Formats: sequence, C-alpha cells, structure tokens
Amino acid sequence: MRVLGIESSCDETGLALYDTASGLRAHALFSQIDLHQAYGGVVPELASRDHVHRLLPLIRQTLARAGLGIADIDGIAYTAGPGLIGALLVGAATARALAWSLDVPSIGVHHMEGHLLAPLLENDAPAPPFVALLVSGGHSQLIEVAAIGAYRMLGDTLDDAAGEAFDKSAKLMGLPYPGGPELARVAAAGRPGQHRFSRPMCDRPGLDFSFSGLKTQVMLAWKASDHSEQARADIALAFEDAVTETLAIKCLRALQQTGLRSLIVAGGVGANRQLRARLGEAARRDGFKLAFPRPEFCTDNGAMIAFAGAKRLQAGLHDGASIDVRPRWPLEELVAVAAVRTTS
Ligand code: KG4
Ligand code: ZN
Repeated sequence: MRVLGIESSCDETGLALYDTASGLRAHALFSQIDLHQAYGGVVPELASRDHVHRLLPLIRQTLARAGLGIADIDGIAYTAGPGLIGALLVGAATARALAWSLDVPSIGVHHMEGHLLAPLLENDAPAPPFVALLVSGGHSQLIEVAAIGAYRMLGDTLDDAAGEAFDKSAKLMGLPYPGGPELARVAAAGRPGQHRFSRPMCDRPGLDFSFSGLKTQVMLAWKASDHSEQARADIALAFEDAVTETLAIKCLRALQQTGLRSLIVAGGVGANRQLRARLGEAARRDGFKLAFPRPEFCTDNGAMIAFAGAKRLQAGLHDGASIDVRPRWPLEELVAVAAVRTTS
C-alpha cells in the first residue's frame, strides 16, 4: 500500500510517500522559518497561507522523487491535530479532496503519534512494548507504549515543554527564532562548570517535568553577565546540561518503573546532540535498547505522518467524508492497532 503523508500542523509543510512493502520512497519539506523570523515566533495566519502555496508543488515533487504518478497513491494520511487550526485545515482539506477524487481512503493522524512512531522508520528499531520520551515545542511526555495506539501517560510537563524552554531561553539571550537549535549551536563553545542550574523535580519521586523555572535562572545569569559571546555560550551550555540531564534521569526512572528494556526518543528536542550522547552513554552502561529517528525526522516532517497513517489504514481504519481537525487532542484517546514492526 502506497500512502501519501501530509504534515501542516505548524510552520513546516512536510510530504512523504511511504510504501508498506518497501518503506519510505520519498519525502520533501518546506520550512517557514524565514517567514516567521521577523516576528520572533510563528504567526498562525501567515503559516496557513503559506501551506496553501506550498502543498500542491510539494506533492508533485514527492511523487516525482518516488518515480510515481498520482494514480499510484493507495491512501492518504494527514495531520488532523494537535496544532494550529488554520494550518491543520489546509492539509486536511487538501488530503480529503485528493482522496475523494482518487477514490482512496484517507486518515487523520495525531501529530504526536507521528513523532512517537518516527524512530520505527529506521533500521533495527525496537518493536513495542517500549517507553517513549516525546520532547517537542509543545510536549514533554513519557509514555508507555504497549502497541501502536495503546499509550499510557507516565509523566507530563506541568508548565513549559522542553522545546519551549529552549526557545524561550534562547530568546532571552537575543538568539533568533527558532531558538532550540541556535542555543544548542552556541552551547558547543560553552565552558563547563561556569554555572549550575537546577534539575527540576528530580529530587522527588514521579515522572513529571517542569522547565519554566530554568528560563528564570537563565534570565538572571544573563542579566548578571557582561553579555559577551562567551557568557552566552557558558549559560547556554549550563541550560542544555540541566535539561538533558533532567530528561535522562526521568527516562531511566520510567524504564525502572515499567520494567521495560527499550527507550525511544522523538520530537524536535530529540535532535539535540547532547541529549543523544547522554542517553547513548546510559544505554551502553545499563544495557537497554535506545532508538532515535534520524535528526531530520525528529522535527516536523511528512514521513512520520505517512508511516503512522499507513499503520492505521493497514488496520482497516479510515475517515468519513467530513473534514475534521482537532487543535487539541489527547494522545490517550487513540485506538490501538496491533503491534507491528518497521516496514511490514
Ligand atoms: O517536533 P517539533 O519540530 O515541533 C513540534 O511539534 O513542536 O519541535 C520543535 C522544537 C522547538 O522548540 C525547537 O527549538 C526544538 O524542537 N529543537 C531543538 C533542537 N532542534 C529542534 N531543541 C534543542 N536542540 C536541538 N538541536
Ligand atoms: Zn512536531
């Protein structure tokens, strides 16, 4: 089954063609970073309008890269939520109209399930059950995954998500949007031990996160500094250390609590090199299996939506004719489909 995937929940238009027999055939992405940079964050109406411009050319480009024509599509998956309502509606309306005209099934995919399953696009990925750490701009969650669609929340953020904390801290120190990757780049020149920020909520049991206090610690350190490049790098490194160590501590706790031996990490912050290295070290030391998507599939992309949609379409699920999106959508409301391995 050849499934076209469409991602348009925020500031990236992502397209992909996933074949359930042979795996990922092609993908294409347009990022709106330049469009929103002047405003320091995503402007929803501009995002929706840009998705309208990009979507059809990207569909043609993806099909051309896969060496396929439009009639070769057997199903369409699109992000139905959570996300910006206007942006979601562009992808959903396009997907539903295309599916209707081709007379193929379509399915609305949960954006975070897309992130969560992205590591399964890689070779040698673990099969459920496993623990998933989902760290993006809007989420910091630890989830027990019994099967695709069977998700139990183990821990969640009480305030800022990990990516949000990166973005806000970067902004406080004058770094451009999107702050996460910029802050990580600057941190590479930081000197260890210049600052020590707290590891929030690690001193008590439980798997919840709270990152908003860290941004205040960054602000105070930045105010007290000489605002030099070196000062910014030192603070960035101390912040990155605090977030990645906190995430690693909670991941190990979640593995211990559930008795599971596999951890997958997904979402934009999963691209962070220090987080990948820290968890890699822990996996070697403690002997658990660890999987990440390739960095380009940590952030928003069409491949994860095509893959998650393909698993649901294969299980016989599909949408009706109406165009419904859900800007808010708890992950635990999804229905389970059988536990399946990578590309079957
Ligand atoms: O998953 P994603 O693309 O979008 C959401 O669904 O939110 O995640 C974007 C988030 C942003 O907050 C961005 O700053 C952060 O992921 N991010 C990073 C890195 N790359 C992206 N944070 C830290 N280090 C990175 N290398
Ligand atoms: Zn995302």
